[in-house]
Amino acid sequence: MLKEVTATRYVTPLREGGSLPGIVEADDLGTYVMKFTGAGQGRKTLVAEVICGQLGRRLGLRVPDLVTIQLDPVIGLGEPDQEVQELLKASGGLNLGMDYLPGSLGFDPLAYEMDPVEAGRVVWFDALINNVDRSWRNPNMLVWHGDPWLIDHGATMIWHHNWPGAPASAAKPYDASDHVLATYGPDVAAAAAELAPLVTEELLTEVTADVPDAWLADEPGFDAPDAVRRAYVEVLLPRAATIHERVTVGERTERRPSRAPGWLADRLAPRPRTAGSGTTVQSKQKDGGE
Ligand SMILES: Nc1ncnc2c1ncn2[C@@H]1O[C@H](COP(=O)(O)OP(=O)(O)OP(=O)(O)O)[C@@H](O)[C@H]1O
Ligand SMILES: [Mg+2]
Repeated sequence: MLKEVTATRYVTPLREGGSLPGIVEADDLGTYVMKFTGAGQGRKTLVAEVICGQLGRRLGLRVPDLVTIQLDPVIGLGEPDQEVQELLKASGGLNLGMDYLPGSLGFDPLAYEMDPVEAGRVVWFDALINNVDRSWRNPNMLVWHGDPWLIDHGATMIWHHNWPGAPASAAKPYDASDHVLATYGPDVAAAAAELAPLVTEELLTEVTADVPDAWLADEPGFDAPDAVRRAYVEVLLPRAATIHERVTVGERTERRPSRAPGWLADRLAPRPRTAGSGTTVQSKQKDGGE
């Protein structure tokens, strides 16, 4: 179970976020980025934040602490912004909180160094959870005290939007050519060797147990929240074992550049690469000019 706190003050909206997350203070004197159950993106976004965030943390990746936050919409009564008022009104009860990292900066691939092993861990993790939201356009990484931190795992695990098709969907490859770390020569094979054995049935059962029942209740095709938890485990467990064989990272060639800016402009010093070393990182073969 995640720690549960109660919101005591709504501080300000974070307008960079599409779901209009807000900074709130809570009764444990913590400050959190709050993601609302009443947001248009729906509660599955929050389920994904919990499962992927907790999984990332258990694998040793830097993801800020997660909590659940009880919200009484009355704390937003003085909020002048209509959109914020409505979001708070629609979100009474349990919401998600992520520890706020004060003074953090958005990750900039042109300004930050990362070795291929560390980049590989993040790309492998994103391949496992099918994260389509860590691109150079929208890195969803923050730099805090000099270290990169992973945030925003709401747009992952696309298979949970169509459970009958989940096995087929989860078997699909992961295209990392737009990934914000694609230019760092991510060593996905090394990451898989290190991290895949850690993704056990037991670990997945533990991280799915952290999702509140209320966000899993009444899922069509399932008779209880635990059955939905089980469905997440059954997809992630086999995917962890083999996804590294199906990760595509852009190849830095004149004819077929990745779409990431570091590959297009010759602004980065050449980085160590692993693409030729095995079958796990394939060069991207795309037809047509992208
Ligand atoms: N833990 C945190 N500490 C500090 N700032 C944060 C934190 N989490 C998010 N932010 C800031 O808020 C912004 C929006 O957060 P996030 O990306 O999680 O929201 P979202 O609504 O899911 O966004 P998106 O538009 O990417 O879907 C981030 O880009 C970042 O600037
Ligand atoms: Mg985001």
